[in-house]
Amino acid sequence: MSNTTDSHQRSAGSARSVFLVGFMGSGKSCVGQALALRLGWPFLDLDQRIEQRAGRTVAQIFRDEGEPSFRRMEHDELRNVLLNSPHPQVVALGGGAFAQADNAALLSAHGVVSVFLDAPAEVLWQRCLDDPQERPLRQTFEQFEALYRGRRVHYLKATRRIDSANQGVEQIASDLAAQVQAGEFSGREPGQEKMR
Ligand code: S3P
Repeated sequence: MSNTTDSHQRSAGSARSVFLVGFMGSGKSCVGQALALRLGWPFLDLDQRIEQRAGRTVAQIFRDEGEPSFRRMEHDELRNVLLNSPHPQVVALGGGAFAQADNAALLSAHGVVSVFLDAPAEVLWQRCLDDPQERPLRQTFEQFEALYRGRRVHYLKATRRIDSANQGVEQIASDLAAQVQAGEFSGREPGQEKMR
């Protein structure tokens, strides 16, 4: 067995799952996949799980049933993931999930590590424009920025904040993987890490 695999398994023994949070376009899914690959952990995208269960895209759910119904599905799926999927794992949340108080409380109660991928609204807006994915809550820049401003205060409650505007996906994933492998997130009770 290689040393790398060995250290992955040692860290996986006591490591806590990592949940990526942040606004639309912050890179949660890309960083999540890259991080999971480096750690040899499973990766899960909460929006994809909601879509699989509903048999519809997130945009269709918003159109058919509205945002409150989507938020209920999101909360149920998050609970399901926390209770029924293997740990440790890497999970990318949708942009609104961590801003919902009941979701944040659930994550905290389960002792997961939350990582906020931070970037200015202008950068996030441009990334969303460049991405073909339909996002019901990306309308005008003014609306997008106001939503971002209201949510940032919630994202700042995450365990860690990482600048995602000036670093590439692989750099962020590599730094985070090193922190996990160094045991920085292991064996502590929820809420004990300081924001960096
Ligand atoms: C949302 C962000 C989306 C998706 C849904 C709602 C939001 O996820 O969950 O459209 O409230 O910001 P991404 O952040 O992956 O785009």
